[in-house]
Amino acid sequence: MIPLAIPNMSGNEAKYLNECIEMNFVSSVGPFVDRLEEMVAEATGAEASVVTSSGTDGLHVALLALGVQPGDLVIVPSYTFIASANAVRHCGADPWLIDVDAYSWTLDPDLLEQMLASETVKRDGHLYHFESNQKVSAIVVVYTLGLPADMDRIVEIAKAYDLPVIADAAAALGATYKNRQLAEHGADVAVFSFNGNKTVTAGGGGSVIARDPDVLAKIKHITTTARVSDAYDHDVVGFNYRMTNLQAAVGCAQMELLDDFVAAKRRIAQRYNAALSGIEGVSAFPEPTWAQSACWFSGVLLSISMKNVSEYISALRACEIGARPFWKPMHLQRPYKNMFSSTMTVTDDIWSRILTLPCSTNLTDEEQEFVISSFMNLTKA
Ligand SMILES: Cc1ncc(COP(=O)(O)O)c(C=O)c1O
Repeated sequence: MIPLAIPNMSGNEAKYLNECIEMNFVSSVGPFVDRLEEMVAEATGAEASVVTSSGTDGLHVALLALGVQPGDLVIVPSYTFIASANAVRHCGADPWLIDVDAYSWTLDPDLLEQMLASETVKRDGHLYHFESNQKVSAIVVVYTLGLPADMDRIVEIAKAYDLPVIADAAAALGATYKNRQLAEHGADVAVFSFNGNKTVTAGGGGSVIARDPDVLAKIKHITTTARVSDAYDHDVVGFNYRMTNLQAAVGCAQMELLDDFVAAKRRIAQRYNAALSGIEGVSAFPEPTWAQSACWFSGVLLSISMKNVSEYISALRACEIGARPFWKPMHLQRPYKNMFSSTMTVTDDIWSRILTLPCSTNLTDEEQEFVISSFMNLTKA
């Protein structure tokens, strides 16, 4: 079976794990935790980073640190993985779902501007949603498939409404926007995931960078049970959201390979695009000029319905090729179908036509050739 996307443990993972066991640092304090925080900071151009138990937890504490409160509304693109919306709900707030644009599959800035202008009102120094009277307190931008959104435009709009921006860059380590590293994209906070299906993994985990060192310090504090001293003294209700040294050991070994892995992901994406996007009814994933995607997942957009995507998936599986659909949007998910939302023209159009294809960083050329020829045969059948 050629798997869809599996971890590539070809570096120092086992060596570093052994070191953890030998030095008996296996929990949330240890040299690999510190080292991974430094490595993420270096890879993103940030001053510092904080590692967390998951990307979802990173998003949760980022929202809290930026002031999101129960009852608030937080803007989230409908086309995302459910963790982006769940993190908002974990704060007791509601996602306000907005469509993505067709050019990038990331938050549509025109629609964002339009929704803010027509559906909110400024009062007492805060922004309120006209219909529900809920305070609008942040914008979450998702880097779909590892592709940065048009951040200059989004940040400009956010500034006009005095809203903080959180980049859910879960799968975007290695991506650039207008040749700028992730820390310079303009988001107040950016969050990454080290989940097993990400380009670099720690088995599980996340990391956070922030423009304001005070915000990052707050994030570290609340992920560490808000402890103020060794005498079991805690100043607010915090969380046990730290990454363990064992996870961080794997994460460090993987980060050493980040550049190679991202290069491999990009090569795989380019090969699929070159071979498949010329076929009638088949197009490539978006490649806007403003960014260089980390190409987390590769695949194609089919000009046909979900039923046919399922047929493709079954037929590819019969050839021992792992293929899958991609995210089901938030406005169609049971927990979020009654949220305030914009029109969903693009999300409704694309989501059921996306087919992801094998793109592990250790996929061989021969394996990819086999995937390409098998897919081509299906389009002829
Ligand atoms: C866009 C997006 N946001 C958030 C997450 C959540 O990250 P984690 O699985 O580390 O909690 C993921 C991936 O899992 C994701 O793809």
